[in-house]
Amino acid sequence: MQDYKDVLAEILIDAETLDKRVAELGEQISADYLGEDLLLICILRGAVPFMVDLSRRISTPHMMDFMAVSSYGVGKRESTGFARVTLDLQTDIRDRNVLLVEDIVDSGHTISAVLQMLGTRSPRTLKVCALLDKPERREAHVPIDYLGFTIPNKFVFGYGLDLDEYHRNLPFVGVVDLNKYKPAG
Ligand code: IMP
Ligand code: MG
Repeated sequence: MQDYKDVLAEILIDAETLDKRVAELGEQISADYLGEDLLLICILRGAVPFMVDLSRRISTPHMMDFMAVSSYGVGKRESTGFARVTLDLQTDIRDRNVLLVEDIVDSGHTISAVLQMLGTRSPRTLKVCALLDKPERREAHVPIDYLGFTIPNKFVFGYGLDLDEYHRNLPFVGVVDLNKYKPAG
């Protein structure tokens, strides 16, 4: 895998800006769920850094759980319109206030499929918190209750988002220079 510096076109959202916005979202969520039980559900793997930072900014008691769905495979940049659950929750969400935490809503297929599936399990409330929104690419309508940033139609990586599974650790969100990036295999 190439060094990130060799494929980075520009830093779209720097670490300080991310931190500030995540803190704001945490405050808003804390206020909205004050006195209420809350379960955060992290959609693996892209939402991990966001979920961890967000959780530390939520001052009200809450639980966490994790699920994985696959719609993008390694090397693929397009959502198929299908999402398969590859790791299900450990928690029974019946009568719980559920907040799905996702890295990015692109076509909308992934989150729409997750909402549909979890909706059948009778949660008390079911909402979505997404770090990034790429509205130009939307194919499936999804309500985003808490949003970090709206971004242009560019492929981004860092802060959880991957470039063929690498570079999720970067503290910023960067744009890939597709002229320089050479996908492996
Ligand atoms: P959707 O089903 O098209 O909304 O895709 C959502 C998923 O695609 C996200 O959870 C990301 O894993 C992935 N994705 C979409 N856009 C990007 C991007 O620009 N960089 C990295 N991953 C992306
Ligand atoms: Mg993802």
